[in-house]
Amino acid sequence: MKIAVYGSGGREHALVSSFVSHGHQVTVFPGNPGIATMADISPGPFEEIEADLYVIGPEAPLVDGLADTLRARRKLVVGPGRDGAQLEGSKAWMKEILSSANIPTASFRTFTDPGAAVEYLNSYDGPYVIKTDGLAAGKGVLVTRDRDEAISDVTEKLSGKAFGLAGTTVVIEEAMEGHELSLLVLCDGSKGVALSPAQDFKRIYDDDKGPNTGGMGAFSPVPGVGEDLVSQILRDSVEPLIAEFRNRGIDYRGVLYAGLMLTINGPRIVEFNIRFGDPETQVVVPRIKNDLARILFEVASGEIRTRPEFISEAMVTVVLAADGYPLAPKSGAVITGAEAPLPDGVQVFHAGTRRSNSGELLVSGGRVLNVTAKGRDLKAARALAYRSLAAISFEKMQYRLDIALSACEQNDA
Ligand code: AMP
Ligand code: GLY
Repeated sequence: MKIAVYGSGGREHALVSSFVSHGHQVTVFPGNPGIATMADISPGPFEEIEADLYVIGPEAPLVDGLADTLRARRKLVVGPGRDGAQLEGSKAWMKEILSSANIPTASFRTFTDPGAAVEYLNSYDGPYVIKTDGLAAGKGVLVTRDRDEAISDVTEKLSGKAFGLAGTTVVIEEAMEGHELSLLVLCDGSKGVALSPAQDFKRIYDDDKGPNTGGMGAFSPVPGVGEDLVSQILRDSVEPLIAEFRNRGIDYRGVLYAGLMLTINGPRIVEFNIRFGDPETQVVVPRIKNDLARILFEVASGEIRTRPEFISEAMVTVVLAADGYPLAPKSGAVITGAEAPLPDGVQVFHAGTRRSNSGELLVSGGRVLNVTAKGRDLKAARALAYRSLAAISFEKMQYRLDIALSACEQNDA
């Protein structure tokens, strides 16, 4: 099959690697130096690539209607149209649709007026959860116990300075507690089929300290999260959402990414995204035994018939991030060691990299590389990932040392 992939991150590198390993011919726009080693890179526009299947990686082009443009040309596309994409394009819209469908989630209020928002924050003792309404690359959320910090965050967001128009509405939510879980669900417009669960690490520093990022690492499978819990999440959160979409005339064909908190009252939705998670894809997709591209073709055609099957081995990915990420990432540093031959079971997925005129690999974005390793269990995968990343370096490289650590300790206990 000829497949066109839109995107340039670690998620797209992992998807392309899976497609290529099953013998598909892949063209990517805009791609990155890692993807360029295994697929054709197109100068764009994406709509002009001739392919049997179009896979759109990031949320922004989906929110902008790229899937609609392609479907108007009778192309088979993985990714919702502008209608379904509002789920990620507006947190206020997402919360509204979750309440109409009775899906378990944090209670919330929406504000556009700073005075009213501050008055609300003054009415209770945190923790405070404040979210920018529009797209903010995972960085528009503040969770804090400090009321003064919450008040200045809300005031800055509503001034439109922090995220421009995306920030002029905020959602203030009830704080939930528990372990987080990412469940990627393939959706063909009428049903959802879950992939193996993963866990992501959102904060920049160890022990979940520091600001939120797009994700600093991930692992799959997740100890303690078995088929029963996945079925419960599908039944209580995913199927009602798909039914609500159908009531509203939305034919959602693509990935529904459920971000959940496993609270003492059961799993509750933190958010839904409209695409594969990054870096969750890097640990979930390489664990799929059968041909993912074939299943995605069924997603785009409107009827999933093939069940994804998973290898029993575990995968861990550790993100190597640029100096200054997530607030002000610095680009330009020279990367060494990322293109050397790798041990068996290790892949380095590129994200924020570019090639200089003289052929050097340079840092060009916040999240730079994903060092991804497979092992017979999480402990072996984690050890191999950290051993392998020791060979890679660039100036002021940042990474977390505790990716999958507590899950390994839980397994040991
Ligand atoms: P989001 O962009 O909505 O996924 O939020 C980013 C991160 O903020 C989540 O992964 C959680 O770690 C945290 N978070 C979001 N909403 C809540 C909530 N209601 N209670 C506690 N933590 C939250
Ligand atoms: N890993 C979080 C996300 O993809 O949004």
